[in-house]
Amino acid sequence: MIGTHVHRFDVVIVGGGGAGLMAALQTSGQAHVAVLSKLYPSRSHTGAAQGGIGAALGNLEEDHWEWHMFDTVKGSDYLADQDAVEIMCRDAIDTVYELEHNGLPFNRTPDGKIDQRRFGGHTRNFGEAPVRRACYAADRTGHMILQTLYQQCIKRQVTFFNEFHVLDLIIADGRAAGVVAWNIQSGGLHIFHAKAVIIATGGFGRIFKVTSNALAGTGDGVALALRRGIPLEDMEFYQFHPTGMYRLGVLITEGARGEGGFLLNGKGERFMERYAPTLKDLAPRDIISRCMHTEIREGRGINGEDYLYLDLRHLGREVIETKLPDITEFVRVYFGLDPVTDLIPVQPTAHYAMGGIPTDLDGRVVLDEQNTPLPGLYAAGECACVSVHGANRLGTNSLVDIIVFGRRAGRDALRYIQTADLPPLPRDAADEARAEIEHFLSGEGSEPVAVVREDLRTTMMDLASIVRTEQGLTECLSRIHQLRERYRRTRPMDRGQVFNTDLLETIEVGYMIDLSEALVVSALARTESRGAHYREDFPERNDQEWLKHTLAYRRNGKFELRYKPVRITRFEPKARVY
Ligand code: FUM
Repeated sequence: MIGTHVHRFDVVIVGGGGAGLMAALQTSGQAHVAVLSKLYPSRSHTGAAQGGIGAALGNLEEDHWEWHMFDTVKGSDYLADQDAVEIMCRDAIDTVYELEHNGLPFNRTPDGKIDQRRFGGHTRNFGEAPVRRACYAADRTGHMILQTLYQQCIKRQVTFFNEFHVLDLIIADGRAAGVVAWNIQSGGLHIFHAKAVIIATGGFGRIFKVTSNALAGTGDGVALALRRGIPLEDMEFYQFHPTGMYRLGVLITEGARGEGGFLLNGKGERFMERYAPTLKDLAPRDIISRCMHTEIREGRGINGEDYLYLDLRHLGREVIETKLPDITEFVRVYFGLDPVTDLIPVQPTAHYAMGGIPTDLDGRVVLDEQNTPLPGLYAAGECACVSVHGANRLGTNSLVDIIVFGRRAGRDALRYIQTADLPPLPRDAADEARAEIEHFLSGEGSEPVAVVREDLRTTMMDLASIVRTEQGLTECLSRIHQLRERYRRTRPMDRGQVFNTDLLETIEVGYMIDLSEALVVSALARTESRGAHYREDFPERNDQEWLKHTLAYRRNGKFELRYKPVRITRFEPKARVY
């Protein structure tokens, strides 16, 4: 028998990464708030962000938030909503100082200011040359942000429910009314009945075989929103980071190229000089990943194989070991190589979802082309699409996004709960979650979930990653449908309730299938190339028809696509030249 416990809060935040913790800090002391996390918060995937957080502080050379805004819009291939980008780039400056004042140990310049390094796509004076904009703490910037925010949350007595796995969103009378979660440690369903819910569950890179994402990156909150009738925006835009460790996918920060590292092909050429003569190895990620794909496909991989080299050797031991200590250790431990003396085998790795749950500028989840909000429901961070990244995100902007929009979502939720009453709790609030758990804990299954998951990840990698075609995407969709059928026949081997990770991984695979299908359906429909969505059969960007955001709804098991306009304020779309 599965027990059900009910808790009541003003605000429930799902996810203990940077966006969730930032939102929690805005509400702490002023409202009754709970943060739910399927991990211990300090293990959230924000901790894997390495190289920096972008803000036009101008500590080492002239810089302006307008330049940051221009780079972000151009980097997005003009799909980002420019009012949102303006807020992000302006507020980045304040929020970095706020993090500093909260104790974040940034690297320093000799005169004690926050040090800044170069990063892909960040330039001075509207594209002239790379600029030093990324504020950093060695190559552990995300880790330090996470630790700083978590410590502040503890200091301000935020209530945490760690190791609670979210299973459903409760929507009552057209308003958010809470969530249903599973207690991983002891089993049992918990209803968190609340006036407002903030989804901050991160991304879903685990749908691809080679990814920089942690095991937890299965898109739980995004999939639950979709299942509750909320559309997903711009799912076709999925970013591959150029430098994943070969075959492992583990991130080698772009900060390594910001410090002066470069890529080499099998002929020993710095091939990015050919493709992006101004920014070279600091061009945006979509461009570099595609160039790497071309080099490999045309036989210029290392020894003709499917990887290239990252060369850091000329940076010297001092820079490598002090400014890039984590990646140095990863390369030493996992490859048995030393970046001081050896070349590093790399390949593009699935890294970041530009799309997700659509929100307005205050993190309120919206339902349609008119941006009609669903009262009481918020999303922030990688799970959300506000949209500041458009078709391709610039490095460092994910950390800015979580801090700026986590803060805005928290503040708006606080405003909202001042006047909103607690929505009624439907009697059947936990029924669907219970039915799902009971389904998996009973009956016999013939399909091992791990096999279904690996087949999905391979399919997505082969047919829906850096280069796409109609034929490949159609095949991908048909395989996803087959995988959905196979998934219905999976059952975890462990039938207990206590620490049943087998059960929870099974549920996560269901989320991954939903999100893969949303991505592929959206990608099939978009017959152009823009940012990270490259269609070999439609290689040009087509602003006439496609300068618009996709909204993917799933109704009665079928996807329906609608579109909404891009908000353009300062920068008219132009060809992207780097
Ligand atoms: O390369 C990196 O350090 C990753 C940063 C990011 O995705 O923003």
